[in-house]
Amino acid sequence: MTNAAAMTGGFSRRTFLEQLSRVGGTALVMAGMQALGFGIGSAGAEPPQLTGGAKGRKVIVLGTGVAGLSAAYELSTAGYDVTVLEARDRIGGRSYTARRGTKLTEYGGEPQVCTFDEGHYINPGPWRIPYMHQGYLHYARKFRVPVELFNNDNDHSFINFEKGKGPLAATPVRKQEVAADMRGYASEMLAKCVRQGALDQEFGPGDKELFLDYLRSEGYLTPADFKYVGTDGRGFDVNPGAGVDPGPGKPSTPHKLGDILQSETWRVLKSVSAFDQQRTMFEPVGGMDQLPAGFVRNLKLTVQVGHVVEKIAQDENSVTVSYATADGQHGSVTADYCVCTIPLSVLKSIDVQCAPKFKEAMNGVAYALVGKIGLQMKTRFWEEKYNIYGGHIYVDDPDVQSISFPSTGWLGEKGVLLGYYGHGSAAAKVSALSLEGRKQFALAAGKKTFPEYADACDSAFSIAWHRVPFNLGGWAQWTDEGRASYYPTLCEPDGRLYLVGEHLSYITGWQEGGIESAWQQIGKLHARVHAA
Ligand code: ALA
Repeated sequence: MTNAAAMTGGFSRRTFLEQLSRVGGTALVMAGMQALGFGIGSAGAEPPQLTGGAKGRKVIVLGTGVAGLSAAYELSTAGYDVTVLEARDRIGGRSYTARRGTKLTEYGGEPQVCTFDEGHYINPGPWRIPYMHQGYLHYARKFRVPVELFNNDNDHSFINFEKGKGPLAATPVRKQEVAADMRGYASEMLAKCVRQGALDQEFGPGDKELFLDYLRSEGYLTPADFKYVGTDGRGFDVNPGAGVDPGPGKPSTPHKLGDILQSETWRVLKSVSAFDQQRTMFEPVGGMDQLPAGFVRNLKLTVQVGHVVEKIAQDENSVTVSYATADGQHGSVTADYCVCTIPLSVLKSIDVQCAPKFKEAMNGVAYALVGKIGLQMKTRFWEEKYNIYGGHIYVDDPDVQSISFPSTGWLGEKGVLLGYYGHGSAAAKVSALSLEGRKQFALAAGKKTFPEYADACDSAFSIAWHRVPFNLGGWAQWTDEGRASYYPTLCEPDGRLYLVGEHLSYITGWQEGGIESAWQQIGKLHARVHAA
């Protein structure tokens, strides 16, 4: 039961909403509906209404990831005089797409230029968007950035677990086989207990028969004796077809329960049941950089790229940001407020004039070590030979974690797949390899499932976010202690400085965190302007 539902106690949901509307207007009713499970999307799905004008105020926005772009768009639309500084020579921050010609040099790394064929790409940062990320979808809708489905799961893909035991270990097993067999066996066993009366005390009148009906349906059990003998959903040995041969095809035989248990392949079955991971998600058509491009099309100001922040100084009346440009010039800009989206991993090393407590809080969070590699394949063998359309190959090597297929370019000639997605120490280890070393590591990993993998690859592009200038990490990773001690401090402005980004949300590691953080902070800024 949600807190709000508990609050409603003895009165109806309708009465509760009517009371909310009396005290808080539509916004509170919407939030109340959300809490009661009416499914109307995120309560933060609309940008703040910055009404009443900007009173001639100037704001500097630092950074052009979706957090900075959201702030810049809303503030400039509301009439603020906005200056946007971006350290890189491109817009978008981590909302990034690597395609032919994309250049990247990590700290201590070799220069890298993407050589994928025209039209092919990888999203090395954010790559999938859940349905409840209504802030992201709000701007995609507003700027007419088309999205397509991102296939985040595929029953016909493989699990290849090396660490388990038995005949199913270290061999590709279709996920659908593991899923169907585990459902079947677990349901069969539970049905046996229920039919023997072992759980009679758990059932109200009539419930036992209904529960057995459920188990029969859930586990594909035989109607009369509740046995799992397989199901067509786990696939056929020979698929049904025309005429008498193959005609009805040849059904497959379930794996033995013990073989699946020993292989530990069942561990992947809950993989798309988390709040923010669904079987189908979204991605922008043409690459993750399309939403930043949509912002730029709609911003009525010019972003100043190649401006690296050196110092943020402030006094009672203004804030001044000093910067260095790519051609070695130094300059500064002064405004009433600064909205800073620079990741804390980077900001903590910049000369920022703020309260000691604020400065200390910037050090209170670690950033994720994350590595990815895009591998362009000459053929889409996973589709052509294995009938796998999107989704992930699940492996238990933490250095690889998953191999993921593109949700675009179906049935085409080539495709770019994600060859590894390592986190933490695994990402640190792989990121220490040369670019060629990373590629060879990824190819060796993929070859364990697909013999043709290494020969099919004709180009690679890798990234280790913890080594990327202006990022130094994938996303903020708060501990409970950091959330309690430091996070609230950073969520409030320090003088004229407002921090914004995924790191100031409970949606870390998602673009939505940056967008909703921007909305919240600029709402406070605007309220302050109007309170003054
Ligand atoms: N949000 C990131 C992902 O989907 C962490 O992989």
